[in-house]
Amino acid sequence: MDFFQYQHNRLMAESVVVSDIAEQFGTPLYIYSRATLERHWHAFDNAFGDHPHLICYAVKSNSNIAVLNVMAKLGSGFDIVSQGELERVLAAGGDASKIVFSGVAKTEQEIARALEVGIRCFNVESISELKRINHVAEKMGKIAPISLRVNPDVDAKTHPYISTGLKENKFGVSVDQARAVYRLAQSLPHINISGMDCHIGSQLTELQPFLDATDRLLVLMQQLKEDGIELRHLDLGGGLGVPYHGEQPPHPSEYTTALLAKLSAYPQLEIILEPGRAITANAGILVSKVEYLKSNESRHFAIVDAGMNDMIRPALYQAYMEIIEVDRTLPQTEQRQSAVYDIVGPICETSDFLGKQRQLTIAEGDLIAQRSAGAYGASMSSNYNSRPRTAEVMVDGDQAHLIKRRESYADLWRDEKLLP
Ligand code: LLP
Repeated sequence: MDFFQYQHNRLMAESVVVSDIAEQFGTPLYIYSRATLERHWHAFDNAFGDHPHLICYAVKSNSNIAVLNVMAKLGSGFDIVSQGELERVLAAGGDASKIVFSGVAKTEQEIARALEVGIRCFNVESISELKRINHVAEKMGKIAPISLRVNPDVDAKTHPYISTGLKENKFGVSVDQARAVYRLAQSLPHINISGMDCHIGSQLTELQPFLDATDRLLVLMQQLKEDGIELRHLDLGGGLGVPYHGEQPPHPSEYTTALLAKLSAYPQLEIILEPGRAITANAGILVSKVEYLKSNESRHFAIVDAGMNDMIRPALYQAYMEIIEVDRTLPQTEQRQSAVYDIVGPICETSDFLGKQRQLTIAEGDLIAQRSAGAYGASMSSNYNSRPRTAEVMVDGDQAHLIKRRESYADLWRDEKLLP
């Protein structure tokens, strides 16, 4: 459930009228709901009850520091994949000792910074990375806590671009190699083995792939015990899906109940999850203005002021996200007809669309909202076609706060230089 609902046919963000926010801050505009973010985070955290656990919010899904600060205030951990994300978490008041660091290409500098601030764990993705972490830790006189990312070779049954747990994917080490890599880790003096992790994909709508992956990890964990390696935590990554278009993904509590049933023999084993989308997607909308309507023999087009640079998911993954009118009090007129529209943006690419074949009652100048836009929207945005990035607002009860100012035109070339 989220806090973007109609009241008297006007779309609200918590207690604030969305069209008022758009009038104040302009469009295109991302609007987030603090109450929704908190509700989703608690859904994960509460579901574990007394079992030792840590929810590490996946920063990549929405990395605005106001969002990170809301998480930090809840006591959340963080899953990061770059020094940029690390610095954001620290700037937002996040606790370094609750950060896990994923990613296949950690540089020496990134590793050194993470050791300096004392992160919770490196989620190691290769033998070379393991050796590099040991080497950097040695130079700094530190011991690096690690987990090995195991690729369990299960099919997450999601879009191939966001499937990560198959042998053909670049992530982690295979189950067959993992035991040897753990033995190597055990022999390295500046490495301290803490756990095991996996992340099999994103937008999963079934539990079975998560449970299959957990089974494979538990078998491996048992084998490690025979080698004298005791793990303190198991990190099952993120990936729980959200209802974009009638999907019925499991509730976080169904997921954790099924997990805890599998883990009843391990009451001390700390479980880490790295949810991103499930926390942020439905906590955000992208509001845009209809600039033009035009029709030809086969199509009605609504041309809006948000483009694929602001929201790339439809173009990149053929993602479906609901699109709704912001103000349903507006009457049908000759200009405002109900029709089936392709909602397209200003960018010079055919893939520049927010949605296709959507029934809407709109006129030029009206506002529309793309729902479930809080995850992988702003964080994947770009300046393509020299379009300044949008403003972002977070609503908290009856207040709308600007959490990112709209970029100016001068911002576009701020870091560029003419030849002498
Ligand atoms: N942990 C790791 C190691 C990950 O790689 C990811 C996402 C997550 C956690 C969070 O997954 P989530 O709970 O959000 O599914 N841009 C794509 C999604 C890419 C996900 C990449 N990894 C999209 O817009 O659908």
